[in-house]
Amino acid sequence: MSAALAASGPSLYWYLTRSTGAVALLLLTVAIALGVLDVARWSTPRWPRFVVDSLHRNVSLLAMVFLVLHILTSVLDSFAPISLVDAFIPFTGAYRPFWLGLGAVSFDLLLAVTATSLLRRHMGFARWRAVHWLTYASWPIALLHGFGTGSDVKSGWLLALSIASMAVVVAAILARVLRGWPANLGRRGAAIGGAAAFSLFVLLWLPSGPLGSEWARRSGTPPSLLPAHHSSTASSGARR
Ligand code: HEM
Repeated sequence: MSAALAASGPSLYWYLTRSTGAVALLLLTVAIALGVLDVARWSTPRWPRFVVDSLHRNVSLLAMVFLVLHILTSVLDSFAPISLVDAFIPFTGAYRPFWLGLGAVSFDLLLAVTATSLLRRHMGFARWRAVHWLTYASWPIALLHGFGTGSDVKSGWLLALSIASMAVVVAAILARVLRGWPANLGRRGAAIGGAAAFSLFVLLWLPSGPLGSEWARRSGTPPSLLPAHHSSTASSGARR
C-alpha cells in the first residue's frame, strides 16, 4: 500500500492529508456535540442514553484514527519537511511552525483525553473530568491549525465546513452552560465569553489571515517551497 502510494507521487498523500484532516475535524465536532448530549442525559425512545453514550465514545475513537492517518500521510508526503516529532512537539518544525504546532498541541491534548478515558475506571471521576475538559481547548486550537496550515480554506468547502462546525460547537457549549444555570455563574460566564470572543476573533482574522494575500509566505512556508522558487507545483496540485 505504502509503495503504491509513494509510486503514484506525493500528491496522493497530500489529498489524503487534507481529507483526513477535514474528516477528523468533523468527527471531533460530532464527538463534542454527543458528549454534551450525554452529560445532559438527553434521550428519546429512539435514541436511548446508552446509544448516545456509545456513539460519543466510538465517534471520539474514530476521530483519533483519522488523526493518526492525517499525521502519517502528512509525514509521508515529501512536499513539505514534516517529521513525526512535529506531531508531538509543537512549534519546532520547519514548515509553518506556529500553525502546524497548534495541530500538535491539539493532538497532545486529545491523547491525554483519550488515555484518561481508557483508564477511567482506574482514576477518580474528578481527575478524569478535569482532563476531559481539555477537549474544549483542543477543538478551537485544531480549527486554527486547519485554517493556518491547510490548502483549502480559500476553496470554500473547508471554510463552510469549519464555520458550520464552529456553529455546532458554540451551540453545544451554550447548551452545556445553560444546563444547571445559574450555579457557578463565573465559570459559565467565562465559557460564554470565551466562545463569543473566539468566534469574533476567527471572523475578524480570516480576511486578513489565511484568506488574505501571501498567506503561504506569512504563515512560515520555507522559501524554497514558495511558488516563486518552486515552479514544479503542478505535480502536487495548486498548493498555496
Ligand atoms: C486535532 C488535531 C488535528 C486536526 C483536527 C487537524 C485538522 C486539519 C485540517 C481540517 C486541515 C485543513 C485541510 C485542508 O485544507 O484541506 C489540516 C491541515 C494540515 N494538517 Fe492537521 N489536524 C490536526 C493535527 C495535525 C498534526 C499533529 C499534524 C502534524 C504532523 C498535522 C498536519 C497537517 C498538515 C501538513 C496540513 C496541511 C495539508 C495541506 O497541505 O493542505 N495536523 N489539518
